[in-house]
Amino acid sequence: PPVLKVGLLGAGTVGSQVAHVLLTRADELALRTGVQLQLSGIAVRDTAAPRDVALPAELLTTDADAVIDGADVVVELTGGIDPTRARVLRALNAGKSVITGNKALLAEHGRELQDAAAATGAQLSYEAAVAGAIPIVRPMRDSLAGDRVERFLGIMNGTTNFVLDQMDTTGAAFDAALAEAQELGYAEADPTADVAGHDAAAKTAVLASLAFHSSYTIDDVHCEGIRSVTAEDMAAAREAGYVIKLLSVGERCADGVNLRVGPVMIPREHVLGGVRGAYNAVFVTAAAAGSLMFYGQGAGGEPTASAVLGDLVSAARAIALGAQGIPLADYAALPAVSMDEV
Ligand code: HSE
Repeated sequence: PPVLKVGLLGAGTVGSQVAHVLLTRADELALRTGVQLQLSGIAVRDTAAPRDVALPAELLTTDADAVIDGADVVVELTGGIDPTRARVLRALNAGKSVITGNKALLAEHGRELQDAAAATGAQLSYEAAVAGAIPIVRPMRDSLAGDRVERFLGIMNGTTNFVLDQMDTTGAAFDAALAEAQELGYAEADPTADVAGHDAAAKTAVLASLAFHSSYTIDDVHCEGIRSVTAEDMAAAREAGYVIKLLSVGERCADGVNLRVGPVMIPREHVLGGVRGAYNAVFVTAAAAGSLMFYGQGAGGEPTASAVLGDLVSAARAIALGAQGIPLADYAALPAVSMDEV
């Protein structure tokens, strides 16, 4: 099949998992897309840094622009605003589709990036930016686009949910639980973004923009973190039949939309009260659909890589269709998976 060159920016917890799949399962992905996804370069800050998975030295470089220029599609998993913003724009302006997990960037410059993508016909995809492996960006953007979303309630930060859950169930101290979340690869490079609620606030802005068909930034989200939650608070909540969670809320109100993140006491029997560890959940209420619950792993390398790869397969299919005009029906002619393999 024709080759589609994939340039990867970042090889941290998630990036190294994406690279690993591209290097080991390329043939399987080719069957799904009609093109051979070829990892053409990996831009990193330090080529000698230790990594979760071994990556071919010849693909590693510190020259991000060269990786972008040498690719057909770019996967951005470096995080941060600068210089990432300029790099994503460089790709989009060149008509190259970008897949990103960068909620902070989207929550500040989402509109600018969307406009850049629209101008060249490139795709900007970011399923991994909100709630890790959980499909929520596309359902919110596409599946519910004909409905009217009234409200979403989300546990959208794995690190803080892990910390609060540990405090609740084992009585662990805040700092010990946070260190464990970092160890497990859930936390941001600077865990302050998790603890202070900024990561959840960024995701809230990204999701709200899709849910309410407007453009919200992190500044539109009232935000409070979990630093002030004490062991005594947890115990008192437990005593009363509640559990404390860092909750993201987006809801229509009389004068528009209200967006907020903060620690909230949730009844233990509520579906969100049972979300444990680094799992995330988003409870959506829409006028016609009613209540919907999205649940799954919200952080970590492999789960988040799953969302990135889904976006990459979609982008590759769109490019394959556009470039080669492969009618969808021809996918039926691709070798079928036998039941033995299922
Ligand atoms: N630090 C984030 C979290 C990673 O804990 O949820 C996923 O965005």
